Amino acid sequence: MTDESTGSDFYSDAITRDDTRDAALRPVSFDDFRGQPKTIERLLIMTGAAKKRNDVVSHVLLSGPPGLGKTTLAHIIGHVMGRKVHITAGPVVERPGDLAGMLTNLEEGDILFIDEIHRVPKAVEEFLYSAMEDYRIDIMIDQGPNARSVRLDLPKFTLIGATTRMGLLTAPLRSRFTLQSRLDYYNKSDLVSIAHRSCKLLEVPIDKDGASEIAGRARGTPRVVNNLIHFVRDYAEERADGVITRDVANAALSLLEIDERGLDEMDKRILSVMATHYNGGPVGLGTIAVAVGEEQQTLEEVHEPYLIQEGYLQRTPQGRVLTVRGWDIVGIKPGDGQQMNLIS
Ligand SMILES: Nc1ncnc2c1ncn2[C@@H]1O[C@H](COP(=O)(O)OP(=O)(O)OP(=O)(O)O)[C@@H](O)[C@H]1O
Ligand SMILES: [Mg+2]
Repeated sequence: MTDESTGSDFYSDAITRDDTRDAALRPVSFDDFRGQPKTIERLLIMTGAAKKRNDVVSHVLLSGPPGLGKTTLAHIIGHVMGRKVHITAGPVVERPGDLAGMLTNLEEGDILFIDEIHRVPKAVEEFLYSAMEDYRIDIMIDQGPNARSVRLDLPKFTLIGATTRMGLLTAPLRSRFTLQSRLDYYNKSDLVSIAHRSCKLLEVPIDKDGASEIAGRARGTPRVVNNLIHFVRDYAEERADGVITRDVANAALSLLEIDERGLDEMDKRILSVMATHYNGGPVGLGTIAVAVGEEQQTLEEVHEPYLIQEGYLQRTPQGRVLTVRGWDIVGIKPGDGQQMNLIS
């Protein structure tokens, strides 16, 4: 942790990285899972009914920004149903044969979890349709004059798809999920409760104000809460008496350059570039990405949804536009930016 971009790097990683520490803090039952009441209610109904009928759960599509609990919910459904969860990801299922291999390995009632399902190649996606609907796939074997189609009957299974980019999913695929549920950013009280739960599991002492401080800066995301707790715990042990209080959390998070609204360096750079270079927009996301030196995909999946949700920027058909709140963060007024740009 030496270079000046450390705060921002830590933060982006905290949102996107799924490391083994995640697993230790993962809730294992619906009771343990905080927030997302609408999604939980729907899943309780589906799993409860499937159990009573001794049936498999219908296909579920979970969408929403990284770190909100999509993978966690897939595991919980498996746990509640007492079934195995087989995990794969869109880019891994390269060819129809890969999919056929996975599907024929399933047992009745098993769950196939496909992460980043929007990245399943088109050629494979078409095989998913009949697998989901009729529990069978027809695959071609051999080539040329010997080519023939073979029908494989599959056990009844549950497909759980997860995506951070619902808009990229095709309509035919989307329509084959019985439930499509979007996870939202968590409110502060749910995040406080997640912070207390994680600290209890990690046996880290934390007081009410410490939890509130961490929750307030976690940009609505449980994974960020957990990652911040790991750093703040280290800070508390190295620079204080081991207890996470408001002052300790404050000092540790300032060191990571995460401000009291949860905005990191990159968030602020985006807003600042929009103000100073483009007078608040409209400006395309691709242009912003080049200007701030970040991948467009990261801006789209990690930074932009939070900035929009908090009302700092808006998406319009012409491009991204800074709001009044966004201008406030940058600390200049519309018009001033262009002047600054000309001067510099
Ligand atoms: N509702 C919750 N209550 C408590 N902890 C949670 C909750 N949701 C998520 N977490 C914690 O956050 C971590 C990240 O969640 P998860 O891996 O399920 O996110 P995800 O939506 O699958 O993210 P990605 O899109 O990056 O795959 C989990 O390990 C878990 O510890
Ligand atoms: Mg996940």
